[in-house]
Amino acid sequence: MMRVAIFSTQSYDKQFFNLVNASFDHELTFLEPALSAKTAILAEGCEAVCVFVNDLVDAETLKVLHQQGIHTLVLRCAGFNQVDLQVAANLGINVFRVPSYSPEAVAEHAVAMIMTLNRKTHKAYNRVREGNFSLERLIGFNLSGKKVGLIGLGQIGIAFARIMRGFGTEVLAYDPVVSDVPAGIRLVDYDTLISTADVISIHCPLNEHTRHMINQQVFEKMKDGVMLINTSRGAILDSSDAIEALKQGKLGYLGIDVYEQEDKLFFRDLSESLIADEQILRLMSFPNVLITAHQGFFTTEALTEIAHTTLQNLSDAQNGTANQNKL
Ligand code: NAI
Repeated sequence: MMRVAIFSTQSYDKQFFNLVNASFDHELTFLEPALSAKTAILAEGCEAVCVFVNDLVDAETLKVLHQQGIHTLVLRCAGFNQVDLQVAANLGINVFRVPSYSPEAVAEHAVAMIMTLNRKTHKAYNRVREGNFSLERLIGFNLSGKKVGLIGLGQIGIAFARIMRGFGTEVLAYDPVVSDVPAGIRLVDYDTLISTADVISIHCPLNEHTRHMINQQVFEKMKDGVMLINTSRGAILDSSDAIEALKQGKLGYLGIDVYEQEDKLFFRDLSESLIADEQILRLMSFPNVLITAHQGFFTTEALTEIAHTTLQNLSDAQNGTANQNKL
């Protein structure tokens, strides 16, 4: 049994962690605040902390956690760009993640974004509810025969490619690491991908090489009216360059499930607040931009798997069992 403080808790975290913990028996303390150097003190009395994508686990936060005797950090997500791994290692804090839970959950959400932007079902839904049965400005395009380019061909990329093949698209992928690809996917260099694809979907991690990798110079090389989907991490896309590309009509459609400054917005109900972030307000104003608030992972199957792997990571940390999820 491990005592763990779970930061950034939402109702569904409580629901799935409590359900799955029935077969683990860890002592779970659910905390609503996000983890930061200021809130780390809330983990007092625990041995481990559990965090999500927008918890800030920087050097300062890790030091406060370490002073309180925290020796294990479990991420209930795949990406780990929010953690200073070097400092964690220096302090002897073991870090675990959930590398894979349901690649299909994110891949299927990316497809939902493509279909919504293309066939404008969100607009049609509202129109019909108001008795407006006109088709004006709802025109879409056939996906069949189009070129779809993937940046990053890992687990989510492969799941996404499998679905896109079913639509009859030509699937191109750029991945600097992968050399062996499933049938029906053509590996290409980055320039070929961005200059020939009709739809581009980002599935690589955020790191020092990928931060702002989609910027003004890259937009210039893209096809006019291209569709760009980002379900990976917000900072891979330069938001202000994306706004310019939208204004110029270069970017024909933008679907984002992640946003550079999402830590101040996402997972909260701000409907009665004044939103200070000018960039998201500008993005929200375009008719050809679809924004969802980091819900790619949000399926029953994925939440169950995330809770299970996270609790297993805690058990393995406690028992000293070898575990490939350790970073
Ligand atoms: P993965 O590790 O299986 O695949 C990532 C792939 O990206 C690897 O094949 C890697 O070689 C490739 N890659 C690395 N650097 C690259 C670069 N510079 N250009 C192109 N490709 C590059 O990861 P997985 O599970 O497919 O997840 C991908 C990303 O999706 C995660 O890093 C995470 O940021 C994001 N994600 C988003 C979720 C959401 O709810 N929206 C949920 C889960 C993950």
